[in-house]
Amino acid sequence: MEAIRNRNEQRARANYFVHSYGCKQNVADCERIRGILELLGFKQGTSTEKSDIIIYNTCGVRRTATDRVLGNIGALKKLKIKNPELIIGVCGCMVEQEGVADYLARRFPFVDLIFGTNLIHHLPRFLYEVSFGARKIRETKLDDGIVEGLPISREAGVVGLVPITYGCDNFCSYCVVPYVRGRERSREPEVILNEIRDLVAQGYKEITLLGQNVNSYGKGLACKVNFAELLAKIDSLPGRFRVRFLTSHPKDCSKELIDTIAGSEKICKQIHLPVQSGSDDVLRLMNRGYTREQYLDLVRYLKEKIPGVSLGSDIIVGFPGEGEREFLQTLSLVKEIKFNLLFTFVYSPRKGTRAADMPDATPKEEKKAWLGRLLKEQELISDEQNAKQCGKVKVVLPERFTETAGKSVLLGKCGNGFLVEFEGERGLIGEFVEVKIVGATRRSLVGERMTK
Ligand code: 5AD
Ligand code: SF4
Repeated sequence: MEAIRNRNEQRARANYFVHSYGCKQNVADCERIRGILELLGFKQGTSTEKSDIIIYNTCGVRRTATDRVLGNIGALKKLKIKNPELIIGVCGCMVEQEGVADYLARRFPFVDLIFGTNLIHHLPRFLYEVSFGARKIRETKLDDGIVEGLPISREAGVVGLVPITYGCDNFCSYCVVPYVRGRERSREPEVILNEIRDLVAQGYKEITLLGQNVNSYGKGLACKVNFAELLAKIDSLPGRFRVRFLTSHPKDCSKELIDTIAGSEKICKQIHLPVQSGSDDVLRLMNRGYTREQYLDLVRYLKEKIPGVSLGSDIIVGFPGEGEREFLQTLSLVKEIKFNLLFTFVYSPRKGTRAADMPDATPKEEKKAWLGRLLKEQELISDEQNAKQCGKVKVVLPERFTETAGKSVLLGKCGNGFLVEFEGERGLIGEFVEVKIVGATRRSLVGERMTK
């Protein structure tokens, strides 16, 4: 570390550019990569052109995610030609996929560092070997441990990301995550609580707990603690802040957890509970571990115990074996539940997963048409749900500020996760503000500030 730091001190410029192409977990990993680079004497650069080390943290969950990053890595070649000292790194989930690290090394020989999701703590060594040993790094390893104590350079602001589990044990048949992030490991509750205490002391007002399946938190820990108990501990920490969490797996979402949320002060009344399909046959092929009826039961319990709860979900259309009949079952589930937020995807085969070997006769065009129908239905639902919020008073935590056409607009979320925009000054970022909802666009609710 010393050698890199000394070298950076002597250089006229030592900037980094780190970009996330993935989910919030991927963003949290970027915060650790930035933390390490800053410890090594690098400073945040404003663009790839003005940086001396560029790291792209990739996602492998769908083909669209991998295609996007491949194009962007290719575009870095000209920067490397202009500046041979530039270090280019590619890391993250895509790198851990079968055969991908080799493919990247062959297709982009100008990339210096290729490393997997669980090797971030080796970054100082990688950089030393690239800088002083003139060696290319290509390392992947589904290391099952957790390395604590890494420096974290967070995006300054309002919301702090706190991973609570890493990896995944569910092996949904379409999903690459267990193969690229390894087995599920939980962080010690005290480590999590201390991180949250620190964040609150630094002024963060919202904490997002992260894990592929937060509901199975605690498995394998020496001290017996489950997710509901962890939430209760977090809820009793002092200070005014909110807590959200991503992502919940329906098969592990217990009544105890729902009761804990219902009785808590700081846990947002919002849950992202991906259903993936409304057809029992497809759910079985997906290896999801619940039926349509069990999911509906869970939603009924949630709505009953947490009035006004905001429900989010993910749905995959065009899974192998899905036909018009199965798609209609998904559509009817969406109509019945009326999610507040829905992310929809066309199935994307991932090499090495079980679904990639399943026969899939449905043409792409038909799958896209299904996606269109689903989106249309959800737009109607979202409009209806948003309209229902009119007249309500919400406590909003502004995260962003824009000035357009002479108007100062703040954008933030209310407790149950709706995006709200309202007029106000920049200084309100990170303050809890009471806002009356007066209208809605498809993207967000529109409000007026109540308190001055
Ligand atoms: N194809 C399409 N969508 C996928 N997802 C995960 N894997 C795939 C895949 N192979 C979706 C799921 C998941 C979300 C993060 O991405 O809906 O919940
Ligand atoms: Fe996140 Fe999954 Fe993409 Fe990895 S593959 S970045 S865990 S969404």
